[in-house]
Amino acid sequence: MKATFQIWRSEPGGAGAFKSYTTEISEGMVVLDAVHKIQAEQAPDMACRWNCKAGKCGSCSAEINGKPRLMCMSRLNSLDLDQPVAVLMVAVLHFVGDHDDPFGAVARIRDRLASGSHLVLSHASAEGRPEAAARHRELYSRTPTPMTMRSRDEIARFFDGFDLIDPGLVWLPLWRPEDPSAAAEQPERTTGFAGVGRCR
Ligand code: FES
Repeated sequence: MKATFQIWRSEPGGAGAFKSYTTEISEGMVVLDAVHKIQAEQAPDMACRWNCKAGKCGSCSAEINGKPRLMCMSRLNSLDLDQPVAVLMVAVLHFVGDHDDPFGAVARIRDRLASGSHLVLSHASAEGRPEAAARHRELYSRTPTPMTMRSRDEIARFFDGFDLIDPGLVWLPLWRPEDPSAAAEQPERTTGFAGVGRCR
């Protein structure tokens, strides 16, 4: 599963701003693990103090969701799910084959979400350009993460229990494009759909 973190990056002179980082997370991770992952993958210049990783030295203290916490002792699965959150499954589920029950996995996450939470999802599809999709599938079949293309109707099933918000489940470039005129030209060439649903 992917998660997006807003991290305060200070700048010389005392200024600063929150920056958004999206990374893959897994069960059992603490906030410090996620920060280290972001450092390694996206922000090598980001400073982060830590020492013991056992809740003793106090050097990894930080404000997390408005509260003072130790990053090494704050499990990601301790997030307050009584409040609406956004779950990002962007270009993820086509790497989960039917034998691993991706529909059941999304439903289990949905059942833990507060009403008003959002599911953001994009997914590869063979609709539109089957010949290109076949090439992608063949390429990924030679990797540890083979690709499962799904039809638009199949992808729509991930939104059971959610209300799709405007413009619905559409070809990738058609989801609220910054430049609608550019996006309207052969949007199916992207071989994927995107949608955002609001949890009931
Ligand atoms: S690294 Fe020492 S308390 Fe977290």
